[in-house]
Amino acid sequence: MSTDRILELSELWAGYGATPILQGVNMTISRGEIVGVIGRNGVGKSTLMRCLIGLLETWRGTITFMDQDITLLPADARARAGFGYIPQGRDVFPQMSVEENLQVGELIGGPKAKKLPELVYEYFPRLKERRRQIAGTMSGGEQQQLAIGRALIGNPTLMILDEPSEGVQPSIVQHICEALKSFRTELGTTIVFVEQNLDTIMAIAERCYIMEKGKITRSLTGEDVTADNVRAQLLL
Ligand SMILES: Nc1ncnc2c1ncn2[C@@H]1O[C@H](COP(=O)(O)OP(=O)(O)O)[C@@H](O)[C@H]1O
Ligand SMILES: [Mg+2]
Repeated sequence: MSTDRILELSELWAGYGATPILQGVNMTISRGEIVGVIGRNGVGKSTLMRCLIGLLETWRGTITFMDQDITLLPADARARAGFGYIPQGRDVFPQMSVEENLQVGELIGGPKAKKLPELVYEYFPRLKERRRQIAGTMSGGEQQQLAIGRALIGNPTLMILDEPSEGVQPSIVQHICEALKSFRTELGTTIVFVEQNLDTIMAIAERCYIMEKGKITRSLTGEDVTADNVRAQLLL
């Protein structure tokens, strides 16, 4: 087993009620990679992310994180083990200020979180300017930065983002892409993200997994990560 392998999903099955959605997902992520999961609406991308972070129970198959089988580990334990999750549609606390939202991240992050609020403000200066603003009154892009900042405070080994560009104005999408690349370069963060936006995928993905009907059916690596190939897979 290669030592830089950080995450492995093997024949993963999960769903809602009696309906299977994930039907044997396989995926391998190495430390420090930025990997996109792409595919049409409804194929199970968000379901896969929920299963990965432990919000949805795994029916069959295994999830291995840093050489440990975490398939049965609940979501809070996965967060402590190094997972950071930014769900689709953001999910900041709308009635709380920017600062208070970040404090929640600090609570979740525990002792290892302590030094990070300033770091979040360095990556997202806009949040510092607005630190006393009520989160729900900010733009979609600012809320997305806050959601990412809150996850960053926990100093995750693996950051999981579900459609970070959704509802975010292009200039902020670009800034977020730059920030994500900096997390990897400067903090060593490994990143897995779901995305349908071609520009975002092209800006950050080093590799892409293509998901169809609850399975990973293909991957794009190296020179195959081209706009034409990605566009074809998104079937825009
Ligand atoms: N909470 C839920 N309860 C029941 N079915 C769901 C739930 N969330 C998603 N689904 C269904 O699971 C399938 C995959 O959805 P999802 O993972 O959100 O796809 P994607 O993120 O690729 O658009 C869809 O058919 C969707 O209707
Ligand atoms: Mg989704």
